[in-house]
Amino acid sequence: METIAQCRTLLERMNNVWEKRSQVKKQELDPTTLLDRTRPDFRVDLLPFKNHPAFLEASQETKDKILSCGWLIYNWKTVAIELKVVNPVCQDIIYQMFPGVSDAIVQEVATDTLVDESYHVQLVNKACSITRQQRGLQSLRSPEFNLVLNMQREQELYQEDWQKLLIKLATSVVSEVFVSDYLKLLSSDQTIQPFNRVVVDTHRRDEDAHSCIFKNLVKCIYSELTIEQKEFFISVLPKPVYWFADLELEVWKSMLEQIDFAGAQAIYNDCSATNTSNLQNIDYSEVIELVQELDYQGGAESLAKMGLLN
Ligand SMILES: [Fe+2]
Ligand SMILES: [Fe+2]
Repeated sequence: METIAQCRTLLERMNNVWEKRSQVKKQELDPTTLLDRTRPDFRVDLLPFKNHPAFLEASQETKDKILSCGWLIYNWKTVAIELKVVNPVCQDIIYQMFPGVSDAIVQEVATDTLVDESYHVQLVNKACSITRQQRGLQSLRSPEFNLVLNMQREQELYQEDWQKLLIKLATSVVSEVFVSDYLKLLSSDQTIQPFNRVVVDTHRRDEDAHSCIFKNLVKCIYSELTIEQKEFFISVLPKPVYWFADLELEVWKSMLEQIDFAGAQAIYNDCSATNTSNLQNIDYSEVIELVQELDYQGGAESLAKMGLLN
């Protein structure tokens, strides 16, 4: 593992390029030039029920509507990560709720990231409004995502504020590691609506940097934790891998019901059995690496306990 001095140097470098790298400083997208109503909003292969008979037998019009729901869910999950996980951790850092974050560089990196994530919320929310208006889906609402609910349930299991904070920190770093891969799934796809692709690609450009920023922020914080806090953090860190990999079938069921899709319940019932196996589609090697870099021995034990080490 890099030394803490090296982590801070890296953060300083990331901070120095922020003005050049950040998408919020760039020219705003003009959606009118990119909208193509004839293209689907989302990729069929990303639907958790793509092979389910109820979906396969649906009319093309219904399939297209379901793909628009897929795009909205994809974006709403992104917004939930930004607003309920990542931005709150940036605020915790700004308020110096963690040790090791008081220096000017870490503080600037946290505020830069807060600006980036707020811009992503604006970008993604605007894209959702366009889709909803274009596809007549204005009335759709999403229930809470399991990613957020699982984090909150885990926090409720513990009494101490520092435990709740470290659970949120673990969820944020795992989300930030995964979110660029999650965005890559659409950012280079030439078959979907070009406007959607460009929105995701704009977001991805920032997230490529965030993954590195968060890993280094965590290393700075971790080095200043007590032994008890370190052990707790290592034991919690692998858990959000499962929360992120969740197929969010409750959200899907709700959306499918809202568009009056008759197969909603059948899809929910049949896919629930495979929900846990979605882990196979996620590359969590970076999380394994981070856990082992922080604490080789304790990390291996914690990863094994969560079934993430063979
Ligand atoms: Fe973001
Ligand atoms: Fe981010």
